[in-house]
Amino acid sequence: MNESLGVILATEESPSTSEFSFAVKEKNVKKGQYVQVAQGHAILFGFISEVFKSNRYFERAESVAEFERTSSIPSQFPSDSWEYVIGVVKILGIFNKGKFERAFSPPSPGSSVNLADNTLLRSFLGFEESGLHLGSIEHHDVPATISMTRLLQKHFAILAMSGAGKSHLASVLLEELLSRKKEDGRVAIVIIDIHGEYCGFSHDPVFGSKTTVVEGSEIKIPLKKISPEIMTEWIPHLSAPQRDVLRHALSSLKQQKKDADGYTFKELVSFIDSTDVSKDEVKRALKRSLSELKRYHFLSRKTENPKLLSQIKPGHMLILDFNSIDSLRKKQILVSLMARRLFNLRKKGKIPPFLLLIEEAHNFAREKAEESEAVSRSIIETIAREGRKFGSSLCLISQRPVNLSTTALSQCNTHIILRVTNPNDLDHIQMSSEGIDSRVAKNITGLKVGEAIVVGEAVNYPVFISVRDRKSLKREKGAPLHIQAKEFEERQEKKAKNVEAFL
Ligand SMILES: Nc1ncnc2c1ncn2[C@@H]1O[C@H](COP(=O)(O)OP(=O)(O)O)[C@@H](O)[C@H]1O
Ligand SMILES: [Mg+2]
Repeated sequence: MNESLGVILATEESPSTSEFSFAVKEKNVKKGQYVQVAQGHAILFGFISEVFKSNRYFERAESVAEFERTSSIPSQFPSDSWEYVIGVVKILGIFNKGKFERAFSPPSPGSSVNLADNTLLRSFLGFEESGLHLGSIEHHDVPATISMTRLLQKHFAILAMSGAGKSHLASVLLEELLSRKKEDGRVAIVIIDIHGEYCGFSHDPVFGSKTTVVEGSEIKIPLKKISPEIMTEWIPHLSAPQRDVLRHALSSLKQQKKDADGYTFKELVSFIDSTDVSKDEVKRALKRSLSELKRYHFLSRKTENPKLLSQIKPGHMLILDFNSIDSLRKKQILVSLMARRLFNLRKKGKIPPFLLLIEEAHNFAREKAEESEAVSRSIIETIAREGRKFGSSLCLISQRPVNLSTTALSQCNTHIILRVTNPNDLDHIQMSSEGIDSRVAKNITGLKVGEAIVVGEAVNYPVFISVRDRKSLKREKGAPLHIQAKEFEERQEKKAKNVEAFL
């Protein structure tokens, strides 16, 4: 048993089945520590939710003011030795006969309060020996090793303001997933990397061999693999007759070119021209809409990149680097394409269970989106709803949770929340995360960069963690501002000197 921190007080409200106060005798007691109290054969677990200090010499305003007028209280009285500390503990549950259950009776006043035992604490919180090591529990020497199945199976979201450490946490998580042994179960990973932040993995001595990067502009899919349903999802404003012509064209070409090497956009357009099933103006309007897709240059005759069937491998990561793509529409169409293909291949058992990680998820599953902006939302919501059965997991990362589809967000059964200060975002997170009460919500604004709270399916109780350092190479996103500024001035000066010398 760890050393005693203090004893439980009897006050009007304490101890109850949900909370108690204790007189602290150990100086090092901190808010956020886990404690335990022996209750017969059972052990009660709790969490220090607040720490107060008090001193009888400073309780009454009028006497404090009066004494301080002449000289200070500490110079006249032994006030220092009357300072005492009270800890408030929120009771989490009881460990009884090898099982964790709710507390049905309060601990007794006078009982000793001890720092929680590390091994018990790990199992109490639901951590696993072979779990994903994301960091450590604050104030305790306990690694936060979260169960992969519990985290991934019912999807998860990483939510926080910009710069709070979302991508850092995601990188730590990827390191853990890529380092798993075959016997522990490994998933394949696909990343929608909006800013090219994860590409450092491909140069890393350890993870490089497990990472493939595909540039967004290099993504290609043979036209013959696109079904009319997907194509009409990409161009949602088509009229019913336009849709009919498109459907007719795609299915006829599929038949005609069955033995050929696919067909080109040009062939699709000339087929539409030649068909007599519709009026000219319908065909013209359809061709105008198709020209947008053509502009994005990802529909090919037979080139396919990435080749999902061979490139999606257990313990392997495929990064789709969207850094060079400017058009949000194109990014949404590519996300819709990739997510749909992954999910279909997985349903047929042709690829291993996978995790699809989407950065800036609010841009791809927007809560209030125009029809044309919503192309990727429906497949993301489908995977969120049905993915669990087919080993298809989602990780949605967002700094604008207010804009994220509530359907998708509510299917993310674990939320990892880092620092958030915007009150709207805070309210939204509190509403969409079951495990967050007002006490936890209050602490979210006080989190520092790299500190997170995990709530939901992956843990037994909401838990604060400090995210560990990363082991993998970080891609430098340009030099710091002061270096860039200095370099700019130096270049200007050099130019000016050259001009002077020339004159
Ligand atoms: N746990 C951490 N330990 C050390 N540095 C961190 C940690 N979390 C974030 N950082 C640093 O803080 C900065 C912002 O983190 P980042 O993950 O890019 O934030 P976000 O993706 O939320 O905008 C980065 O320079 C990153 O290296
Ligand atoms: Mg980021």
